Amino acid sequence: VSMQPLQWLGNKVRLLDQTRLPHEEVYLELTGYREVVSAITEMKVRGAPAIGVAGAYGIALGALGLKADSREEFLTKLKEVIQAIADTRPTARNLFMAIERMQHVAEIDADAEGIKQALIDEAVKIHAEETEASQKLARFGADLIENGVTVLTHCNTGPLAAPGYGTALGVIKYAWEQGKKIRVFADESRPRLQGARLTAWELKQYKIPFTLITDSMAGYFMSRGEINCVIVGADRIAANGDTANKIGTYTLAVLAQEHGIPFYIAAPTTTVDLKIASGKEIPIEERDPAEVTRIDGVSIAPEGTKAANPAFDVTPHRYITAIITESGIIKEPYLERLKKIVL
Ligand code: MRU
Repeated sequence: VSMQPLQWLGNKVRLLDQTRLPHEEVYLELTGYREVVSAITEMKVRGAPAIGVAGAYGIALGALGLKADSREEFLTKLKEVIQAIADTRPTARNLFMAIERMQHVAEIDADAEGIKQALIDEAVKIHAEETEASQKLARFGADLIENGVTVLTHCNTGPLAAPGYGTALGVIKYAWEQGKKIRVFADESRPRLQGARLTAWELKQYKIPFTLITDSMAGYFMSRGEINCVIVGADRIAANGDTANKIGTYTLAVLAQEHGIPFYIAAPTTTVDLKIASGKEIPIEERDPAEVTRIDGVSIAPEGTKAANPAFDVTPHRYITAIITESGIIKEPYLERLKKIVL
């Protein structure tokens, strides 16, 4: 599929608006960093690697729009841009990896124009590296998918979420392209329904047979022996392998262990955060409770109902069979092995 959900056009970002899928394919052209901030917060672009790439382009756009009389003034104003991008969503490590790289580039010995160009180049480089990483990890991961299996996945982890192949869905797609017979169970992934709206949309395009289920049906199908493995993405992986991913992932991991089903994480090394020792320290985004009390703007609970809406949960590393990265497949002891492959 030659779909380009996220593109740099030299002085603007072209984005497939993921909130309009699956019914409408609407492309947006973002010309300023504030538009990128809204696009990330409102989840027009989402998925850890895609958020990182969009954030980097947002900083480049912000820099391009700055007017300053001195290098110093430029850098002061750039800090505000970077802060606004950093304040969008807290969990995906890829965003902060991208921000750190952009910050580093902003320190080069050059005038404002020189720094602007260097920031654009760095954002383009981050995009290219994430794309390449997704392709490599998809190839490694495909080795774990046997012919004839049924795979359960959660949320959306295809090219919409990670430029290139995607992560978990990239592995599935790669194995499918190798000619393996695969069936997919896709969790709808309440409350934002990335599974129903986005994963189903992507799988339909690839012509991979799939069945959409609500999140609470996973245990039922596992108990009947209808699922052979679970493969999901990650938003942040701690040094010990504990993994934050879309809310509901932890439940799947515990269920998988109970049923003796392998549980795989697929993520580029840019998702790994060695500065964080364990999952307890991963910042978990809390979103608007209205995402739970309403579906597509329609209220589904009594007026005034209190709702919780953590966007992610943490799966302890002991439930994770392996982590698939672009540098290979990692198993316990995660701490030792992640340190070797993450910069
Ligand atoms: O809230 P989202 O849609 O940004 O969450 C996305 C996920 O949880 C994905 O599983 C994760 O980012 C890995 S995607 C390549």
